[in-house]
Amino acid sequence: LAGLKYFGAATDTPGQRERAGYEASYAQYDAIFADPSEFGQTTPTNGQKWLFTEPSPGVFNFTEGDIVVSLAAKTGKLLRCHALVWHSQLAPWVEAKNETEWTKEELSAVIVRHIEGVMGHYRGKCYAWDVVNEALNDEDGGYRQSVFYKVLGEEFIRLAFKTAAEVDPSAKLYYNDYGIERPTSVKTEGTRKLVKMLRDAGLRVDGVGMQAHMHADNHPTAGDLEATMRGYVQAGAAEVAFTELDVRITIPVNETSLEWQKDGYQKVARACVKVKECVGITLWDFYDPFSWIPYTFPGKGAGLLWFEGFGKHPAYEGIIDTF
Ligand code: XIL
Repeated sequence: LAGLKYFGAATDTPGQRERAGYEASYAQYDAIFADPSEFGQTTPTNGQKWLFTEPSPGVFNFTEGDIVVSLAAKTGKLLRCHALVWHSQLAPWVEAKNETEWTKEELSAVIVRHIEGVMGHYRGKCYAWDVVNEALNDEDGGYRQSVFYKVLGEEFIRLAFKTAAEVDPSAKLYYNDYGIERPTSVKTEGTRKLVKMLRDAGLRVDGVGMQAHMHADNHPTAGDLEATMRGYVQAGAAEVAFTELDVRITIPVNETSLEWQKDGYQKVARACVKVKECVGITLWDFYDPFSWIPYTFPGKGAGLLWFEGFGKHPAYEGIIDTF
């Protein structure tokens, strides 16, 4: 692995797969997932999110999250946990109460209770937690107008990291976002500022997670990726990781686009190997039919390493060559 702590793949619960129209059981999928020579780490793609873990105020449900967490234990994978405070896939009750109606005290208590409940339940099991996910906007890299930000301002981020540090001292605490892979983007600058803001407040922030949902025909160079990571380290992050890697292609794919994709994957692998603070790479699942890309970005797909039917993308060998 050329100095990386892990190379892994996120996975969803079979129930979620079924809801997406696939069968729950895929022996070949399970075998590839379990194979330690393929993946040493995993992340639940959905089960630990607020929508599932605290569907009603103070009522916790760990059914979905536990499935992937116990699978990780059974198959000996390092576990990244995802995500505590995020505006998306949030339980409707957090937003249903109009933000003008939450007082700062109420919403702060809601955040603390959520982190205590979820992180407390998984205490000691997570190598890392995405404590705050996607708090920055795409336009100018400032704060996103989420319910959390509208009520509490940037204090919600400090509160989340402060609470997380108390609840599970053994988990690395990450800020995680997308579109923060290029060194000069406004969002990358915003991420560096966010890390500094937490450090200046005396809070623990261990890592920056670059989701890295990339495009085959337009991705950063390895040098850009390295510069970005060094920027986060300079801002005070002890480590960085590629947390949700996929490289989407305009479908149907062809030889050229698959080569571009291979190049994108190799650049990430090469950059991570070069930067000693880069601890690992997580694919956002590994089997194309289970990828979120076709649902979310119509016309795009084939972003992972195994095609439908389990043939491998050229990028698979490309990554192996890089390590
Ligand atoms: C995606 C999941 O893969 C989908 O199954 C779900 O429907 C939506 O969320 N950024 C994140 C992830 O932090 O949690 C998202 O995962 C993809 C974008």
